[in-house]
Amino acid sequence: MKVKSIAVLGLQWGDEGKGKVIDFLSDQCDAVARFGGGANAGHTIVVNGDKFILKLVPSGILHEGKLCFIGAGVACDPEVLQNEISELEARGISTKGRIFIDFGAHLVLPIHKVSDGFRDAGRGKGAIDTTKRGIGPTYADKSSRVGLRVADIFDGNTLETKIGYVIDTHRNNLGDRGTDESIVNASRLAQNLRSYEPLFREIVSDVGPEILRLLANGKRVLFEGAQGALLDLDYGTYPYVTSSHTTIGGIFIGLGIPPSSLGTAIGVVKAYMTRVGSGPFPTEINGKLADSLREKGREYGSVTGRPRRVGWLDLANLRRVININGTDKLAITKLDVLDELDEIPVCESYEVDGAKVSDVPSNHPDFCKAKPVYSKIKGWKQSTAGMNKIDRLPKNARAYLDYISEKTGVPIWLISTGYSREDTIFVDADPFSS
Ligand code: IMP
Repeated sequence: MKVKSIAVLGLQWGDEGKGKVIDFLSDQCDAVARFGGGANAGHTIVVNGDKFILKLVPSGILHEGKLCFIGAGVACDPEVLQNEISELEARGISTKGRIFIDFGAHLVLPIHKVSDGFRDAGRGKGAIDTTKRGIGPTYADKSSRVGLRVADIFDGNTLETKIGYVIDTHRNNLGDRGTDESIVNASRLAQNLRSYEPLFREIVSDVGPEILRLLANGKRVLFEGAQGALLDLDYGTYPYVTSSHTTIGGIFIGLGIPPSSLGTAIGVVKAYMTRVGSGPFPTEINGKLADSLREKGREYGSVTGRPRRVGWLDLANLRRVININGTDKLAITKLDVLDELDEIPVCESYEVDGAKVSDVPSNHPDFCKAKPVYSKIKGWKQSTAGMNKIDRLPKNARAYLDYISEKTGVPIWLISTGYSREDTIFVDADPFSS
């Protein structure tokens, strides 16, 4: 019997609008699990006009009774988690007995955030422009085997020594914060971490077996992706990536479950593209048109407020990450942002040093030089905002969507035409079929 689970993964540079898709699917699932990333993510969800931005707690929390898992692959900032839970409670959402975090999830300490900022600034023009949430240094410590995990909070004897290793690792990356006691005093930091012990004692868990048990009992589980495929540590536009695996393999490593526990993989794609932070973006546009798309799409980072760079859909890149993820269905978001355009360029292939290249150049310097080769699709010049029936879509909007599906070989399951849950067209009623 096929497992009833579904993964929602971003197929661009994050900010594809996964929050809304995840929110919708959470309603149909019994549990939602985050497998990677940390508080660099910000899933924006609008419920009855109320806006929620969730950074660590899976979006399922907004649906009564759903269980929420945070896997070992997540970098957990305890302060952010505590604040998020308190805010949810204050807004009337009960979290008791519904949130679980793996013993092995690594902890983001204040020193990681300072080190993140210092190291990125030190790259000068090559800065990655990270979110400064301590993500890179936390995952680096994990790989170097000096990182602190949730389980360490319960071990009163060794906590301070382990914090000492972390401080030693980052001592030269702190700039003028190098003597700040709140950053480098191990006993103070240990005391601070111990203050989270009651929180973690209540929610700590061995997440993998819990998820497998749910699936074995026929329950539906949603794997909630963060960021997007082009920010994957190995398969994104390295080094302008995040430090976790945002593609499909991250689910299995990050939750400790086998590939057979995944049913359907849904890829979320914005009808155009955005990127926040530095790095190559062949289809980027600038000027008035870019500004108007940015305003219409409200393209400002939900965590940092930074304006997002905008550009046209890159089908060559999309085909590549669809293959990496084994994407079964697409969710296309923000179609309405393109409503006023006369025509919409779509990148089919590239030109590198005068030669036509149909696949994404795997060599970073070549990708930086890649010039997009565009096809132009006729615009529809009509509002699609808030549409929720496929047969109401203008002919050319339909043609644009069909084109994406045809060129990628993946059917479209959902089209989003606005921020609210209601502004959604379901092309295929059952997201769990594949
Ligand atoms: P970091 O994840 O903070 O280390 O940032 C590395 C790169 O990933 C930067 O370019 C960030 O802007 C980008 N990034 C990280 N998280 C997100 C996200 O949730 N949405 C969009 N970009 C992100």
